[in-house]
Amino acid sequence: MKHTRDFGVGDHSYYFGRSEPVAREIAASQPDKSFVFTSTTLRLMEQVGVALQREESLLLVGETGTGKTSSIQELAKLQGKKLHVFNMNQNTDSADLLGGFKPVDIKFLLKPTYEYFLGLFKKTFKSDKNQKFLDLMQKCYEENQIKEFIQCLSHGLTSLKAKKGLDPERTKQLETMIQDLQRRAQKLESGGGFIFQFIEGTLIKSLQCGDWVLLDEINLASDSVLNKLSTIIEGHHILLNERADIVETKRHPDFRIFMCMNPPYTSAGKKQLPASLRVKLTELYVPELELEIDLWPIVDRNAPSTMFSESQKRQILEFYLWARSLVLNHNKRGNIGLRNLSRALKMMQAAVNLRYPVLKAIYDALFTCFASHLDSSLQQALEKEIFRLFQIKTLPSLDMVSRSRGDDADKFACVEEFIIIKGGHPIPFNESDFILTPTFRRLVKRLASIVSVTDYAVILEGPTSAGKTSTV
Ligand SMILES: Nc1ncnc2c1ncn2[C@@H]1O[C@H](COP(=O)(O)OP(=O)(O)OP(=O)(O)O)[C@@H](O)[C@H]1O
Ligand SMILES: [Mg+2]
Repeated sequence: MKHTRDFGVGDHSYYFGRSEPVAREIAASQPDKSFVFTSTTLRLMEQVGVALQREESLLLVGETGTGKTSSIQELAKLQGKKLHVFNMNQNTDSADLLGGFKPVDIKFLLKPTYEYFLGLFKKTFKSDKNQKFLDLMQKCYEENQIKEFIQCLSHGLTSLKAKKGLDPERTKQLETMIQDLQRRAQKLESGGGFIFQFIEGTLIKSLQCGDWVLLDEINLASDSVLNKLSTIIEGHHILLNERADIVETKRHPDFRIFMCMNPPYTSAGKKQLPASLRVKLTELYVPELELEIDLWPIVDRNAPSTMFSESQKRQILEFYLWARSLVLNHNKRGNIGLRNLSRALKMMQAAVNLRYPVLKAIYDALFTCFASHLDSSLQQALEKEIFRLFQIKTLPSLDMVSRSRGDDADKFACVEEFIIIKGGHPIPFNESDFILTPTFRRLVKRLASIVSVTDYAVILEGPTSAGKTSTV
């Protein structure tokens, strides 16, 4: 298990273990600096890489925070592939993925023909000589005068046909497009002002142009969506029942689909995938990163040595391992995993950047990311351990320099030892209306610690009329 795969990421290609070198597209972005190729991650990357080369569709199964989503995102970045991520849920409609008939603006109907015509016309004739004609056409298009617009098109087509040396195939295609427009325009006249058009969903668009698609939390999707998916993830040509006409959608050879899910039955609402879909997927289990040799590089990379000492980093890792096993043994609500660790590391880095004292930054980040969702006895245990590990007697407070931030003091508000940028919106707020009881004070402090250094989304959970709304 400890064996580390050989891998290489160069400017022009990359490979993981047994997977053959893959060319990186020129537009490929730089890999994420905070993402670390640990031995567990490399094993996963190798498996995914080989499966991709065999043109398989992948299903990654693993507990929360094991790096499923981020590994796929990282791989897409390495290869320079556009990745569309969908977070599935009970209410995800197959129309969101595959497409459906939607009411559209008339221009949507005219645009493809107009663009095709302009391309052909400007190549064949000089634009300045025909400027009047082109202006008229533009006006009809802008003002949705369909009849006049089609007349212009037909007029242009006649001139194009008369021109010698033009590929007859292209004028023929234009003719077909114009005829199609005419037919639709007639329908529109007889049936009122609405037009409906089949708008392809992102999944189908990606299938045609070779993007990647990640369907996250796939086992939360409804059965009807899952069954639809199983009909389209195989085969070189796909027939969409949704679209009334019988046009085959051709699969681009670069198109790949990934699905991620937590193991079924470990929590509510997570079911097994239907067999019809499961047999078409290559299933990979993604284990948790729990070895110290895997975790250390993540801490080391995400807590820069310019900010934190070597021993502080070791203590952060020690704290993570200790807190994880404590919470696991208690077997209560509130799991602790890699997500808590990487959030905490980002948060302390942001705080130190804002000139918060290092120990305060560490304490706030560890407490917020590891303890704030636990019950009070565990919270106290974790807090005690942070104080013990980092030998904190009293928390250092912000010094005057960072507190006032030079001349811009009136742009910032100081809330319970934290500095928050003031907004521009004046709110009639009378501080004496709001009584800060000790419980409230703790809550305000916690909120301020998050808002002041991060852009994390916060969820407050508690019994009714506990003061959640009014505190925010
Ligand atoms: N190899 C790695 N190096 C650095 N950070 C990582 C690595 N793998 C995962 N992480 C971090 O762990 C966190 C959780 O990862 P991710 O969101 O990919 O988990 P997941 O398996 O998709 O979880 P879920 O099942 O809840 O969707 C992220 O914040 C990510 O940055
Ligand atoms: Mg995920």
